Formats: sequence, C-alpha cells, structure tokens
Amino acid sequence: MKKILIAPSILSCNFLMLEQEIRDVEKAGADLIHVDVMDGHFVPNITIGPMFVKALKTITTTALDVHLMIENPQQYVPEFAEAGADIITVHAEADVHLLRTLDMIRSYGRKAGVSLNPSTPLTFIEYALYEIDLLLIMTVNPGFGGQQYITTMEPKISGARDMIRKSGKKIDLEVDGGIKASNVQRVVRAGANIVVMGTEIFHSPNYAAKIKEVRKALKF
Ligand code: DX5
Ligand code: ZN
Repeated sequence: MKKILIAPSILSCNFLMLEQEIRDVEKAGADLIHVDVMDGHFVPNITIGPMFVKALKTITTTALDVHLMIENPQQYVPEFAEAGADIITVHAEADVHLLRTLDMIRSYGRKAGVSLNPSTPLTFIEYALYEIDLLLIMTVNPGFGGQQYITTMEPKISGARDMIRKSGKKIDLEVDGGIKASNVQRVVRAGANIVVMGTEIFHSPNYAAKIKEVRKALKF
C-alpha cells in the first residue's frame, strides 16, 4: 500500500513557540506541514500570509502544504510561491478562472491543488482534473480547527478517488477537517492518501506517540 502522508496543521499549534513546534512535529514524523491561510472573506476567520510562509521556510525543509482559504487566490499566488510554498491549494469556489490560477502555480514549479467545500460537488472540478497535482476534500466547513468531522463526506472521497483513477493522472487526494486517529482509517479506506490533522496532533501531549497511533490505525 502507498505510504499515507500525515500533514499536521499548524493552525492548532502554539504560535508563541512556532519554531519548537515545527521541530517537534518533524521529529515526530510529519510528512508535510499544512499551513492554513484565511482572509476573513472566503472564510469567517483571519490567519497568516506570505510573510509567515517565508519565515517558516527558513526553519524547515519539510514541504509546506499551503491551503489558501481566500478570495481571488490568483492575486496572491506569486507571493506564496516566492515565499517557498511547495504545494499551493486554492478553493474552486473562490476562483472563477481556476485553470488560469492552476497554470500560474505550476509556472512557479509548485504543485497545484484544488479544494472543495463539503457542499461543492465533485463535478465542479471535472475539467480541472487534468491541471492539478492534488485534490483536497474538506471534511468540515473551512475556517476553524477543532470542528466535527462530517461523515457523509466519505462517498465523496471514494468518488474523488474513482475520478482520479479514471483520469489516469497521478493526483494526491487529501482530506482536511476533524481527522483523528479514531477516524483516519475510514478516510484512507475511502481513498485519501494525505491526511491533515490539527487539533488531534497539536493538542496531544506527545506528538510522536500520536503519529505512531495514527500509523497503527492505518495498518489494515
Ligand atoms: C480548517 C482548516 C484545517 C484545520 C484542521 O478550515 O483548513 O486545516 O486546521 O484542523 P482540525 O484537524 O482540528 O480539524
Ligand atoms: Zn487546511
């Protein structure tokens, strides 16, 4: 079975200890660092921007998985790419010129991702599938960490895996929102190969033990 990648979301870390938090989670076995960018328009919360990504890049070699929950993402792609984002994921709902944006992300040599809110059907990105490296299925309504996983997203995850298989393309399938050691097996069985985890990892007393627990749940 393909290795499942674990992407801790720093939204739930202790920002005052950011550097230490990154080092701890890397040492614990994180495969990617998930960075949540929110603009207070597309989602009802505000977080961080390209300056922060640039600073992060100076303290880690782990790939930065940047999730843009912002309106008009195309305007900010150059800054995030230059700041050192390795994967740049935009929301399909936030961009009327999605293909142009994906093309721009790739022109910077970055991986291009598209994310879908829980209520957005898969068909919405059917024609964008040929331009993406990653598809991110939200399993909560984006905006905050610590929300309840929406179980009805499982058929959507399997549907996305089918679409990817049929496309014949190598596209990662990521899930984000409410993922825990207790439900990670369900999303991976449905077809996900990257799992984002915020509160489950950063609110646990021992990151290495938590990641080990997650990997154990994935031995099936
Ligand atoms: C939510 C963000 C998530 C969030 C996940 O809008 O996109 O990445 O940090 O946090 P948990 O794992 O706590 O749901
Ligand atoms: Zn996210």
